[in-house]
Amino acid sequence: MNKIKNDIFLRACRKQPVERTPIWIMRQAGRYLPEYRAIRQKADFLTMCKTPELAAEVTIQPVDIIGVDAAIIFSDILVIPEAMGMKLEMHEGKGPIFHKPIRNENDAKSLKKIDPAKDLKYVLDAVSLTKKELNGRVPLIGFSGSPWTLLTYMVEGKGSKNFSSVKSLIYNNPSLAHSVLSRLADAVTDFLSAKIEAGADAVQIFDTWAGILSQNDFEEFSLQYIEMIVSNIKRKKEPVLYFPKGVHFKLRKLSRCGADVISLDWTMNIGKVREKIGKTVALQGNLDPAVLYAGKEKIKEEANKILGLYGEGSGHIFNLGHGILPDVDPENARYLVKVVKEESGKYHKQSEKA
Ligand code: CP3
Repeated sequence: MNKIKNDIFLRACRKQPVERTPIWIMRQAGRYLPEYRAIRQKADFLTMCKTPELAAEVTIQPVDIIGVDAAIIFSDILVIPEAMGMKLEMHEGKGPIFHKPIRNENDAKSLKKIDPAKDLKYVLDAVSLTKKELNGRVPLIGFSGSPWTLLTYMVEGKGSKNFSSVKSLIYNNPSLAHSVLSRLADAVTDFLSAKIEAGADAVQIFDTWAGILSQNDFEEFSLQYIEMIVSNIKRKKEPVLYFPKGVHFKLRKLSRCGADVISLDWTMNIGKVREKIGKTVALQGNLDPAVLYAGKEKIKEEANKILGLYGEGSGHIFNLGHGILPDVDPENARYLVKVVKEESGKYHKQSEKA
């Protein structure tokens, strides 16, 4: 295994000393980069995901172009339902579509148990190829959707505003919801373990729709499955990051779910969250992605605010509070990375800089 030259991201996940705060950007491999769009013009999104050479190339682009401290494998959270047998279409401007959503027992029966080594081999091949091509420059992050967030897409069949179908399912037929969620939890556990085995240095679980649940429902339909996954993933020292977007409650419970890092959206005060749970977990985040629409001075000011709120010491991974928006100027993303690298040194003691 290659030794990683810039391992500042991994050290921050483990709250070990760092010389400055590391930064990467959710959805950093994507349409805001002209270099991404050039490849995307020649291949559709799913073909890119399924061609390890193309996936590796766009995964590495933001490391070269933006200067981030970690790469995240180019793929999508919806490859799991697709591997379970749901036909997936990605529509320009409309997002993902499953034409046959899961609404009853009969639909759920058609979902097959996946073996990542066979059914998602193309993702694992992309991970090992990317790892090889990165040649130890920065760590590689593998990822998955949370069972709950995957269930929302599988039941709604597409993006949604009020999530009527999946909410209707949890209130009318909770046992069906739980049976699909626990199958998804097994699939996510096996998939993330296989990604680590293939070379991922850390894994992140995206729970984009955690925040649409009431506090008790969040525990019942999402968090308990995260706990199962984190305790069952086969890993050595690879950190697990959990991003429960919109969850501003039950922070102590969240901090005990087993994840090493909790990723915060931009509505939270990272300083206050650190006071509550910063001894137990590292924190990631949490700049409003829309700040990248502003000019450089404003970007610097807002980045400094977050660095200041977190304060001194390790355990902070700078990131946006959600994915980078497709119409952001890449120059602004590059500037954010530069500013965080330059401004964060003062929060880390000389003794940390060994
Ligand atoms: O972070 C990275 O750069 C790695 C790649 C990545 C993608 N999707 C590529 C992608 C990651 C980590 C994801 C995660 C993902 N996918 C999530 C969770 C994170 C989040 O943003 O909430 C979700 C909910 C999805 C499902 C998904 N995939 C949606 C809703 C869409 C359409 C909306 C959109 O942004 O266009 C996608 C498509 C998608 N996934 C694109 C990319 C680069 C755009 C497709 C294209 O190039 O046409």
